[in-house]
Amino acid sequence: MPELKTAEADRLIKCAIEARDQAYAPHSHFYVGASLLLHDGHTISGCNVENASYSLSICAERVAAATALAAGYRSWRAIAIASVGGVPPCGACRQFLTEFGNDVTVLLVDVIDGSRRTRKLSQLLPEAFDPSSLPSHA
Ligand code: THU
Repeated sequence: MPELKTAEADRLIKCAIEARDQAYAPHSHFYVGASLLLHDGHTISGCNVENASYSLSICAERVAAATALAAGYRSWRAIAIASVGGVPPCGACRQFLTEFGNDVTVLLVDVIDGSRRTRKLSQLLPEAFDPSSLPSHA
């Protein structure tokens, strides 16, 4: 998989920051945007969506992934995640995303100072349980 060019990363980060504007987080006030870079160059974004019944809240990463899946995409090259502090994805999101490939570049973006850290999903969730772990896997 060719590495992300600077212009591609910049564009994806802009999408994630824009998606964050739509975050529905009245309970935590922690606003997150995530954007996926698809193999055809398109981007698909998501934001976190909270609920008064707190445990029903959904992270931005899973909203973006589910939106991409609903649009017919099953894998992507990269995900940018924008938040205050540039936090890494939670454990549940690491697992959810790994289902669709772990050779994915993860850009962690701090919306306060614009700084970014780059990781691979495989670094964030090593030795993952994934579809190949199942006995039924071809
Ligand atoms: N959250 C995300 O959307 N992504 C992350 O990577 C970390 C946490 C959301 C979930 C919840 O709405 C809020 O941030 C506080 O945990």
